[in-house]
Amino acid sequence: MIEFKINGRAVSVDADPQTPLLWAIRDEIGLTGTKFGCGIGMCGACTVHVGGRATRSCITLLEDVAGTEITTIEGLDAEANHPVQEAWRNLRVPQCGYCQSGQIMQAAALLQDIPNPSDDDIDAVMTGNLCRCMTYPRIRKAVREAATAMSGAKDNG
Ligand code: FES
Ligand code: FES
Repeated sequence: MIEFKINGRAVSVDADPQTPLLWAIRDEIGLTGTKFGCGIGMCGACTVHVGGRATRSCITLLEDVAGTEITTIEGLDAEANHPVQEAWRNLRVPQCGYCQSGQIMQAAALLQDIPNPSDDDIDAVMTGNLCRCMTYPRIRKAVREAATAMSGAKDNG
């Protein structure tokens, strides 16, 4: 039994400790917003936060997240109104949508680390999150919009 917290809820997962975290999130815990793309850590579709860090859940073993706190797209904000999600909606970033929960989780982690990123910062961090629909220009714009919104919120206390 592997115990951890996900989206603020304590869970125990009874599965092989070598199971990829992505499988546990989707099949054992039933949170299907996190997607399977490549399964080898190369596309970013499965990105979640583990201890606040953007993490590829397809190549993270269940045994390695025991005792950690995990956030998935469902838990980023209770009302799906995280500034990154708002910017994504304002700019209509998604096309097919498949890669987008991973993109949003990666962007949210980026803005935690670099509150006011340059285009180069955005490209450097987001480059590992692939989008077959080529939404990259809108992703970059939305990250900048979210950064502005978040810095405004901070300035207003
Ligand atoms: S499914 Fe995890 S990086 Fe592609
Ligand atoms: S929106 Fe279709 S893969 Fe990114």
